[in-house]
Amino acid sequence: MDWWTHAAVYQIYLRSFQDSDGDGIGDLDGARARLPELAELGVDTVWLSPVHPSPDADFGYDVSDYGDVAAVYGGREALRRFVDAAHALGMRVLLDGVFNHTSDQHAWFQSSRAHPDGPHGDWYHWHDGSRPPNNWASTFGGSAWSRDAASGRWYLHSFAPEQPDLNWRSPGVSQAVHDAMAGWFDFGIDGFRLDVFNSYAKHPGLPDNPWRTDLLGRLARLVYPFFAQAHVHDRDRPELATILAQMRALSDATDHPTVLVGETLDERFQYDRAADWCGPDRLHLAFHFRWLHTRWSARGFHGAIAAQVAAFGDGRTPSWVLGNHDFRRLASRWSDGSHTDARMRLVALMQLGLPGMVVVYQGDELGIPEGRLPRSAIQDPPGKRFWPLYKGRDGCRTPMAWSPDVHGGFTTGTPWLPLHSDHAARNVAAQRARSDSVWSTYQAMLRLRRTHPAVRDGVLVLPEEAHAQLLTYRRTSAHGSVRVVVNLSRATVDWTLPQGERQGAVLLSCGTVSSEDGSLRLGAYAGLVTEVERS
Ligand code: NOJ
Repeated sequence: MDWWTHAAVYQIYLRSFQDSDGDGIGDLDGARARLPELAELGVDTVWLSPVHPSPDADFGYDVSDYGDVAAVYGGREALRRFVDAAHALGMRVLLDGVFNHTSDQHAWFQSSRAHPDGPHGDWYHWHDGSRPPNNWASTFGGSAWSRDAASGRWYLHSFAPEQPDLNWRSPGVSQAVHDAMAGWFDFGIDGFRLDVFNSYAKHPGLPDNPWRTDLLGRLARLVYPFFAQAHVHDRDRPELATILAQMRALSDATDHPTVLVGETLDERFQYDRAADWCGPDRLHLAFHFRWLHTRWSARGFHGAIAAQVAAFGDGRTPSWVLGNHDFRRLASRWSDGSHTDARMRLVALMQLGLPGMVVVYQGDELGIPEGRLPRSAIQDPPGKRFWPLYKGRDGCRTPMAWSPDVHGGFTTGTPWLPLHSDHAARNVAAQRARSDSVWSTYQAMLRLRRTHPAVRDGVLVLPEEAHAQLLTYRRTSAHGSVRVVVNLSRATVDWTLPQGERQGAVLLSCGTVSSEDGSLRLGAYAGLVTEVERS
């Protein structure tokens, strides 16, 4: 089996992971020093948020030079040391490939804006006229078109005005991006997470997107037009297939196995198209975030898992992502206020027992809650724009806590964002010391993924019907079967194993669980992973 079909990925949000030089911002040497702890946790791949030079209008997602590494993170040499150290530990490294847009400070954009007939003239989407050419809206609010002050021309930006969209119809753009990707493959990286890959191709005629007619869509029209449109002309375009095929050919030609993982954009949180972009001549994987956007409920979670499994079928690999640097922290989204740790332990059982790629966002293995920031501390552009309606993404980007030390051992300086308020108790050192902590549960599940044949390679058998309180599934392989059962409710729930199944050894349990002759009793937020046999 290819490594990426069962990889356990850890997302490092570099600015907030570990600072090594006291400037309050995480960096690559700091992250390198923590790699042994990630190996101990049990992940086998790390994905680094963007490392390239950037004016940080969107914290690294506005790249000004794809060929270099930002000085604030330690420069190219520090990435060399990081990749070598990861490889020495048997871990793989994915970079964040941000190729839908660049920074407005990138030399390509500067040249394109100054010289419409020059070599970069058509590398971005430009429009002459008194009005924007269409109604396209920015993910970060307002129109997706801004006027270049010097020339008076309009340019397209699907995100902030400082992030102009590349024009993928220009051969120069694809060549330049391929060169950048090939350079990093030669450097030795093991793949890319491709930022909003399904936005690369735009309809050449730039027609208006239709407005949504459902109630939510109509309500959003004035406040947040991005959400009010059906994105048929600026996303998931058929032309994308060729762009992805070329990227895949590059990845297939590397001298070591590399992977392309797409980050899928869908403002309706359905991700119905994600699987379409995966295959032998497309991406290896594309994130399907429906589960992330589902409220805590056994039926909801069952439905979200079933939706991805159905979409990806037998031939494509699913990936399970429950948190990242863009959405409210898992521990706050899925907390009932008083059982956060119990719930987060169940998350580890549910997520890490599934087949395919699993992705853990830094800090979710500790149950770090969403940070509460005063307006004056907000750094994220959409947070500044929409406060207090939407406070932005800083709350899920607060620094890691490694120890009970000042600032959680993250920095000796002043952290760029404050840590979560209970960091003196909620940190890696404290949780490593307790076998019933969230961290230890992640570690135990990650160990099972590596060592137990059914958890590693078994086929997923999800019941057809969802249960009102329990989520359960089986993984079946030639070397035996394993069942995961978790009680998502506060009530004690009795459940009998399906007919023909006998319970074997319990591999892991959380909370109060008892079993007799195939009848399980699970207390509030209890769960277990058990071997099962056919009787
Ligand atoms: C998705 C990234 O995850 C997000 O952080 C970023 O703001 C946008 N893409 C734009 O690059």
